[in-house]
Amino acid sequence: MQRTFLAIKPDGVQRALVGKIISRLEERGFKLVGLKLMKVSVELAEKHYGEHKSKPFFKGLVDFITSGPIVAMVWEGKDAINSLRKMMGKTNPLDAELGTIRGDFAIDIGRNVVHGSDGPESAEREIGLFFKNEELIEWNPDIRKWIYE
Ligand code: RTP
Ligand code: MG
Repeated sequence: MQRTFLAIKPDGVQRALVGKIISRLEERGFKLVGLKLMKVSVELAEKHYGEHKSKPFFKGLVDFITSGPIVAMVWEGKDAINSLRKMMGKTNPLDAELGTIRGDFAIDIGRNVVHGSDGPESAEREIGLFFKNEELIEWNPDIRKWIYE
C-alpha cells in the first residue's frame, strides 16, 4: 500500500467541487487517512512548490495557492501515487482526458483544481509538510476485502 498527498486548490474549494472530488477517490476504493481545510502560508507554499522556484509562473502559483482555503488530504491504496495522478489528468486541463478531474472540471493550467504528489519522494515530503503524524489516522475500512483480492 502506498500513501500520497492530494490537495484541492483554492479554485476547487471556491467552485464547490470538494465533495465531488472526494467522492471520486472514495468510490474508486482509495482510503482517506488525513483531511483538513486550511489556509496555506507563503512560507509553506514556497516550500511546497520549491522545485518551481526558478520558473516564470512561480510567483503567480504561490499567490494563487495562498489566496484562499485548500483541502489537504492523504490517500492510501495500491499504487496510490500514480493512480491519483491518472485520476487528476494532465497538468494543462485542455490536454487532460475526459473522465479525469482536470479534464472534467478545468480549462486553464493556472486553475487546474487539484495538486497531487508526483513520486514517492515528493509524497513523503508533502505529507510531512502538511500533516503531523498524529493527524494521519490508522483505520481498517470494512469493505477492504471487496476492493482488494
Ligand atoms: P501539481 O504539482 O499542482 O499537482 O501539478 P503538476 O505536477 O501536474 O504540474 P507541475 O509541473 O508540478 O506544476 C505545478 C503547477 O504550476 C502551475 N503551472 N503553470 N503557466 C505554466 O506554464 C504553468 N506550468 C505549471 C500549474 O497550476 C501546475 O499545477
Ligand atoms: Mg507537480
